[in-house]
Amino acid sequence: SAPPVGLTLRVNGQNHALHVEPRVTLLDALRDNLGLTGTKKGCDRGQCGACTVIVDGRRINSCIALALAHDGDEITTIEGLGQPGQLHPLQAAFIAEDAFQCGYCTPGQICSGVALMEEARRGDCSAVTPDVRQQGAVPLGDAEIRERMSGNLCRCGAYANIVRAVRIVAKQEGVA
Ligand code: FES
Ligand code: FES
Repeated sequence: SAPPVGLTLRVNGQNHALHVEPRVTLLDALRDNLGLTGTKKGCDRGQCGACTVIVDGRRINSCIALALAHDGDEITTIEGLGQPGQLHPLQAAFIAEDAFQCGYCTPGQICSGVALMEEARRGDCSAVTPDVRQQGAVPLGDAEIRERMSGNLCRCGAYANIVRAVRIVAKQEGVA
């Protein structure tokens, strides 16, 4: 294996100096090196969204990102969005709307939902399907939320409640 390389991961506002092998993913660095196990490993191949984190305001699948590629980037994980007693509005909405069962997909769903609202705020329409556009749907209607959340799988099938939780907070935030 290649010799470890030094990097600084900036996670939830804190800098962490690390030495990792160049092949280490951002997901493994977060979980194994920093102990931030809120970010989950589902498929480990970019297909399920369980490992979603927010990097410089955009969501990525951390299992297919190299830690080294994010030296110095501003990374937000579920732990940085809120904490017990001080939940992010979307975390509170997931509880209120019963938007999880086993909870394994939930940190990724919530990071994705938070970033999705940022996308809407930026006017980033890349995920809007042509049909949604033709229907003239308002920003972040249910169809668009579903489309934009489609990279986050839920084996428990909590989709209806997940969409509702995102929609409720998107409304509160003025982007739905
Ligand atoms: Fe990263 Fe599934 S664990 S997409
Ligand atoms: Fe179990 Fe989504 S709540 S996978």
